[in-house]
Amino acid sequence: MTRLLFIGDLVGRPGRELIRRGLPALVAHRQIDLAIANVENAAAGFGITPDLAEDLFAQGVQVMTGGNHIFDKKEVLPYFARQPRLIRPANLPEGAPGRGRVVVRAGNGASVGVINLMGRVFMTAIDDPFRVVLAEIEAVRAEASLVFVDFHAEATSEKVAMGWHLDGRATAVVGTHTHVQTADERVLPRGTAFITDVGMTGAHDSVIGVERSAILQRFLTALPQRFEPATENPRLNGVIIEADETTGRARSIERVSLSADQIETLVATAATTG
Ligand SMILES: [Fe+2]
Ligand SMILES: [Fe+2]
Repeated sequence: MTRLLFIGDLVGRPGRELIRRGLPALVAHRQIDLAIANVENAAAGFGITPDLAEDLFAQGVQVMTGGNHIFDKKEVLPYFARQPRLIRPANLPEGAPGRGRVVVRAGNGASVGVINLMGRVFMTAIDDPFRVVLAEIEAVRAEASLVFVDFHAEATSEKVAMGWHLDGRATAVVGTHTHVQTADERVLPRGTAFITDVGMTGAHDSVIGVERSAILQRFLTALPQRFEPATENPRLNGVIIEADETTGRARSIERVSLSADQIETLVATAATTG
């Protein structure tokens, strides 16, 4: 049995702080074998830098995925060549830095293929994720007994459709990008764990992680605003998936949504139980 933790879009310093404080305790408490996080908003909401990525790897994130914001910070572009465990959507045009897949070894020895994709509905028109993903799965299958897909997309219909498309082909398909955790997690009939959106790791007294007054002004006036990450009510959102590496099927998927206080309780528990 392999336990995968996937952490939804971490937004700015509040998101990074939740990981720094909570990830080691969560990994210990829930016996996590592989921790993956979507980091497209890690640097003040826009992209990620090599330094921030190095910090997150040091804190126990083993694979990082992206989305429409992954290239926002220019200094990250050359970093992709040296860090294969930071991946970006596989269906971007030829020539984009980095790759859309990686195979890693989980703590229990299971080899896990991680694939990142981006949707096309209400987003930039890129290559067809439904076709590209089949080639990506084919490419990791030779080495990986488990296949994990982060589908970064806006429309619930596109994400639900991808879940059915990959049922029996991937171990898990999780949605990211909308930053609002959905309550539809389940294991599909052929053994693929699915959730429409994992949610966001950042400040929840906000508009999807951003300081809410600027967003409200934008809606009220339609004038451009400067967006800053919010700080109030930080929560870590994610899912824990249990999967059988001998069959490649998921056994369960569980939503995680922890406040900073709940994380502190977990840290204290982990400390007393050694
Ligand atoms: Fe995001
Ligand atoms: Fe996004």
